[in-house]
Amino acid sequence: MLTHQQFGTSVDDAPAAADAEQARGPLRIAVIGTGYLGAVHAACMAYQGHSVVAVDADAGKAAALAAGRPPFFEPGLEELLAEVAPTGRLTFTTDYALTAGSDVFFLCVGTPQQQGGYAADTTYVYAAARSVAPYLTSDSLVVGKSTVPIGTAAAVRDTMAALAPAEVTVRLVWNPEFLREGVAIQDTLHPDRFVYGVQGPTAEADIGLLDRVYATSLADGTPRVVTDYVTAEMVKTAANSFLATKISFINAMAEICESAGGDVVKLAEAIGHDERIGRKFLGAGVGFGGGCLPKDIRAFRARAEELGLGQSLAFLHEVDGINQRRRDRVVDLVAQLSGGGHAGVRVAILGAAFKPHSDDVRDSPALSIAAALQDRGAHVRVFDPKAMPNAKHVAPQLQYAADMWDACADADVVAVLTEWPEFRTADPVALANVVRRPVIIDGRNALPGSAWTAAGWTYHALGRAAAASALPRKDSHS
Ligand code: UGA
Repeated sequence: MLTHQQFGTSVDDAPAAADAEQARGPLRIAVIGTGYLGAVHAACMAYQGHSVVAVDADAGKAAALAAGRPPFFEPGLEELLAEVAPTGRLTFTTDYALTAGSDVFFLCVGTPQQQGGYAADTTYVYAAARSVAPYLTSDSLVVGKSTVPIGTAAAVRDTMAALAPAEVTVRLVWNPEFLREGVAIQDTLHPDRFVYGVQGPTAEADIGLLDRVYATSLADGTPRVVTDYVTAEMVKTAANSFLATKISFINAMAEICESAGGDVVKLAEAIGHDERIGRKFLGAGVGFGGGCLPKDIRAFRARAEELGLGQSLAFLHEVDGINQRRRDRVVDLVAQLSGGGHAGVRVAILGAAFKPHSDDVRDSPALSIAAALQDRGAHVRVFDPKAMPNAKHVAPQLQYAADMWDACADADVVAVLTEWPEFRTADPVALANVVRRPVIIDGRNALPGSAWTAAGWTYHALGRAAAASALPRKDSHS
């Protein structure tokens, strides 16, 4: 039996039973949900030697993955599917019955923001739990990986207990996932850490079984932190809230720099040398987007309010607000650089994905800025190397270009809003020949500004003196 003392311990404190379990080799694994998380997890678990059945309600998605064609862009995933396919260890299906006999059932479904509210929509988590419950045995383990509000793990276990065969004791671990899109395979095979939220009489055996799943990474020295359910749920939302706060902190500094004449990139470099602060996630620009950071800070705050703890996370409202203001800033800047208005201004938007090396456009700063500019009468043309199909789906009202050159043709303003390598390394001399006015907004502080200036461009980077110089100063001390 796990004692309270063992919560919050690291891999060094692993029970002896876990070591014994690890030695026993590959497992039969079911993965429920094949989005970014589930598809990558399933492929990586099969790659590490386990036999994996991955289930998705969407037949098209399951068929595409079975044919080795991921329905989204994730670097290396297609290659990994091709490598694993000949082993016969990876099956994609819509049929839950194929999960019967699995040792471990991973819940990898999404928890999007609720329609009309800030809380997370946990419908898919409970649906997945209900679907696997009939196939559970007292030897099998359910492992929740989805990002969920505080209290979900315990409630999911109760839900399954009511539906599982009568003699079965439901065993559940909450094991949040920290993978980043774009480097998801690397993050899954070589994570920074594992977090196991365990509870109840089977906790020690549950740890041992999950250690068998992750035997390869644990043997490589990946740290493992064992907690209770609530802490494990919180680790994920706390981590994403911290990252979002760090980005909004530097973007708040960018606001000050823009008005006062400072340089946020130098500021980030200088404070980042303090290892207590660190340089990572101090990239100032148009801010964070995607399917995780924005909705996770809102859901965390919504759950805290439900628990009567709203004050503790009130600051996340400001984190969200700073992030939204960065988008407004680019919209305003386009007008300022174009004689005061948006009407008729031709704007090239380079980037649609929420970050490079992804085709994900959920809550994308680039697309939201493009839509706001168009709403104000600008002629917007968008190009992204990978996210065009998704962008056209969610923002069909926008004009899309065939490539970067086409987007920039006759543009009055070019805005780089997603820092894809092909934009970072674009030739400013050649691009100057296709635009109407050589004016560029570097929305990610990703371009070599001096090269653009030398090529005759008016270069504006968010939070830097060059951008600030175009603005009216707010104080009278200059
Ligand atoms: C994020 C977390 O980083 C992962 O650890 C977590 O597992 C994942 O959410 C999740 O919850 O599933 P991801 O959404 O893939 O991963 O993207 P990030 O790399 O965190 O970037 C998020 C956003 O912040 C992007 O729009 C990016 O452009 C922006 N960002 C990042 C900045 O604006 N500045 C920075 O310095 C860094």
